[in-house]
Amino acid sequence: MRAIVFETHGGPEVLHLADVPDPLAGPGQVRVRVEAAAVNGWDVKSRAGATGGPAPTSAVVPGLEVAGVVDQVGDGVAGVAPGDRVVGFAVGGGYAELALTSVFARVPDGLAATDAVTVPVAAETATRVLRLLDVRPGETLLVHGASGSVGELAVQLAVRRGARVIGTASPRNQERVAALGATPTTYGAGLVERVRALAPDGVDAVLDTTGAGVLPDSIALRGGTERIVTIADDAAADLGVEASWRSERDAGELAEAVDALARGDLVTTVGAVLPLADAPSAHALVETGRAGGKVVLVP
Ligand SMILES: NC(=O)c1ccc[n+]([C@@H]2O[C@H](COP(=O)([O-])OP(=O)(O)OC[C@H]3O[C@@H](n4cnc5c(N)ncnc54)[C@H](OP(=O)(O)O)[C@@H]3O)[C@@H](O)[C@H]2O)c1
Repeated sequence: MRAIVFETHGGPEVLHLADVPDPLAGPGQVRVRVEAAAVNGWDVKSRAGATGGPAPTSAVVPGLEVAGVVDQVGDGVAGVAPGDRVVGFAVGGGYAELALTSVFARVPDGLAATDAVTVPVAAETATRVLRLLDVRPGETLLVHGASGSVGELAVQLAVRRGARVIGTASPRNQERVAALGATPTTYGAGLVERVRALAPDGVDAVLDTTGAGVLPDSIALRGGTERIVTIADDAAADLGVEASWRSERDAGELAEAVDALARGDLVTTVGAVLPLADAPSAHALVETGRAGGKVVLVP
């Protein structure tokens, strides 16, 4: 099959199309003919060698999430058959014509693969961090990066729990954040004052999805390090703030989120859909921080 690979760490240009062996569905896995593969920050960081992992010793296929049509079912997998459309977490890379997944959900009729594929990583992460923060009805949650893929789902899930959410975003995304049910404000200088004006009684919990150095402001707003979680800032440990790096993948929660997207009870944003061969441009776009939503590759 054709896949996007990198053999060395570097800029987007190290990504290229290659012929690689077809993956085979092992126990507990299905193989899908990929209709859409999403690009995540992790893919960009691992390509650049910024995740702390060793240099690759063979071709690596990036990509954490895929949607497509099942064409092979491994031992021990029940309730799914070749021809079914599923979306899930990719095992061994998703930027390819074929990919494996072991945690997946059905794609409801009428939901495009390019929309379904925005869900697995962002919904898992948003669900996990809200669980960690234990956000309760009536509380005020500050979400840094409310316009991002993780942030927009965290806002919606927290609002659904009855929380009041203040969400930061760039000026161009203020209306989008408001439409999600949050009170929007801009990030950057003066953030503490802006949030204090919106929440004179303080904020009960803070989620940082940006890694943009917002933890000191978050500590000031919380009056301590309790109930602050970052998913993107390596400075967390030094500052005594909780960081959450480890995913907790659950097929039931994924199905719930995908079904909610299909019903229109959750929304996600696609920033760009590009052909698989344009993976270098896709990474370059994500690196600008101005993709405006999830970047999706289509084989
Ligand atoms: N730890 C984990 O388990 C985990 C899981 C998933 C993702 N992540 C990481 O979490 C991060 C977010 O992922 P994502 O997919 O949600 O990314 P994304 O869609 O690119 O969202 C990034 C967000 O950051 C905001 N932002 C950009 N520059 C900023 C700045 N200088 N100050 C404050 N906010 C700024 C953006 O706002 P505007 O677009 O409005 O400018 C946007 O809301 C990535 O680093 C990713 O690798 C970690």
